[in-house]
Amino acid sequence: MSDIYPVPAEWAAKAKVTKADYEAGHARSLNDADAFWLEKAQRLDWLTFPTKANESSFDEADFGVKWFADGALNVAANCLDRHLAERGDQIAIIWEPDVPTEEPKKFTYKQVLAEVCRFANVLKGQGVKKGDRVTVYMPMIPEAAFALLACARIGAIHSVVFGGFSPEALAGRITDCDSTVVVTADEGRRGGKHVPLKANVDAAAAHTPCLKSVIVVKATGGAIAMQDGRDVWYHEAAASVSADCPVEPMNAEDPLFILYTSGSTGKPKGVLHTTGGYLLWAAMTHEAVFDYRPGQIYWCAADIGWVTGHTYIVYGPLANGGTTLMYEGVPNWPDASRIWQVVDRHNVEIIFTAPTALRALMKDGDDFVAKTSRKTLKLLGTVGEPINPEAWRWYHDVVGEGRCPIVDTWWQTETGGAMITPLPGAIDLKPGSATKPFFGVEPQIVDADGKILEGATEGNLVIARSWPGQMRTVWGDHERFFQTYFSTYRGKYFTGDGCRRDEDGYYWITGRVDDVINVSGHRMGTAEVESALVLHPKVAEAAVVGFPHDIKGQGIYAYVTLNAGEESSEPLRKELRDWVRTEIGPIATPDAIQFAPGLPKTRSGKIMRRILRKIAEGDVSSLGDTSTLADPSVVDDLVANRVG
Ligand code: WTA
Repeated sequence: MSDIYPVPAEWAAKAKVTKADYEAGHARSLNDADAFWLEKAQRLDWLTFPTKANESSFDEADFGVKWFADGALNVAANCLDRHLAERGDQIAIIWEPDVPTEEPKKFTYKQVLAEVCRFANVLKGQGVKKGDRVTVYMPMIPEAAFALLACARIGAIHSVVFGGFSPEALAGRITDCDSTVVVTADEGRRGGKHVPLKANVDAAAAHTPCLKSVIVVKATGGAIAMQDGRDVWYHEAAASVSADCPVEPMNAEDPLFILYTSGSTGKPKGVLHTTGGYLLWAAMTHEAVFDYRPGQIYWCAADIGWVTGHTYIVYGPLANGGTTLMYEGVPNWPDASRIWQVVDRHNVEIIFTAPTALRALMKDGDDFVAKTSRKTLKLLGTVGEPINPEAWRWYHDVVGEGRCPIVDTWWQTETGGAMITPLPGAIDLKPGSATKPFFGVEPQIVDADGKILEGATEGNLVIARSWPGQMRTVWGDHERFFQTYFSTYRGKYFTGDGCRRDEDGYYWITGRVDDVINVSGHRMGTAEVESALVLHPKVAEAAVVGFPHDIKGQGIYAYVTLNAGEESSEPLRKELRDWVRTEIGPIATPDAIQFAPGLPKTRSGKIMRRILRKIAEGDVSSLGDTSTLADPSVVDDLVANRVG
């Protein structure tokens, strides 16, 4: 039934990874893994070359993830210094501003190195040392990339918090990893709107005793308050520091960054990535998946606040001596042509974006695309959620005019980089399938009991062995790392995703099988939204589920039980939506809130989410057996008062 888009002839002939390379390479990456990985590690510039590759174990007794552990290197040196001799004057970063009439900025490798060294010296001036945590709460401006690389240069651990998160969410993340420094900007800009980043930091700071200093980049010049003794203007501090800064030698297993992500349970987890394995994974996947060659203008349209921005805006492309475009704004402002206008303005050859953006643009019609040239485009990428075949074909036929392969990359914050993904010169495409595993990745599909299912099948996706880009721990909670990912299916990494494998061995991700919703390609834990709702003084109980949404992929549907004596009303519905926005951030805003006098619970008090999901989906004809509920009549009320 599924159609196939074979590797185009010119790709088969010229690609960095051909079909034969892929097949032989993938087999060797599993059968002769250590030799394979030590050979691949040579692409990085090591201070001490490692003698061992994988020393990981997924078993409880000797659990741990460890790669290249006797090697030493520095990530910033790999992304910048080592390119200077050959490409010091090549553009490393192109910055496209939110407002299209403003001038873009371009930075050569030499310039980025100087900026990063200055930033590193400013951080040092605030007392930041190797191993310290620096929270980065920034808009999409070049200084965000400089800040990350500056941390890497001096061995500080960055923790980027997406600029759309609320002061509460920011405070939680600052406190969890004990950051002493926050790097922010006066304001951010997105789609013509200003985001009060510094004011949000001020609000967060009331709950973060660990925070000692705030470094503020002047981005918009908007009015902000500066607190004496705590806040420092970046441009003032940078004026008096040197543009040289030595690199800190780092062990391959020294932490590089923490990135908080949502899981099934309450609090977001601090996913920790380390130095050597992560950088190798970022560089290798970036080169192979995008068939990347220095000189090509490459644009990953993600935000630096997500793992995609870390790996595919900053670390992958720069480790490969590439030219990476950073865009401050959103794809459809001032109108739905903007994304393609940016492509034309900068002669972008490779673009990497999310299905949700494509669906939104598709809805606005083909004219917005047709009036742009896009003739430089060679390759299209997607990430973040399953791409529906209709959006895939629109991307392929309308955006790429049939000439550009699509790489649909499946991966996670936890995996560091792409895991199941097409390689454009090696793997024939099927719309909606992430296709085949990358080198070193051994996917398996298991049933609920962990039995490995062979051949064409469907079940839960696990990865049977470690790979270099794998997360190393949950910050401050190693036990939670084991419990979350390795206790469901012993000896294997559980992804939380459902997956189908077809008769050709292609993988089709079917979506999360845990209590995580994927809203516009962003992960949101249902428990997080529930905890925010029950903090409201009028709310007694809340249950949150995902439901299919045309543009966002999944929307957030909240069932809310009010305290006795409270009346449901439209104003209260709005108040609760605003409440969640304020507690977590706009991405967590419920799309639908249903006031429910009772929730469907088992006699032992467990909420039956299966029923809530069905009702939210509008699929009320197949609610299944409700006789085990403590009070089956609540279901009738829920069905009768469904929202949407
Ligand atoms: C989903 C984003 C289908 C998946 C890099 C995963 C995808 C979660 C794809 C991770 C894809 C990501 N096809 N589903 N190509 N890419 N996902 O941590 O459910 O923000 O578990 O990492 O997004 O989201 P995260």
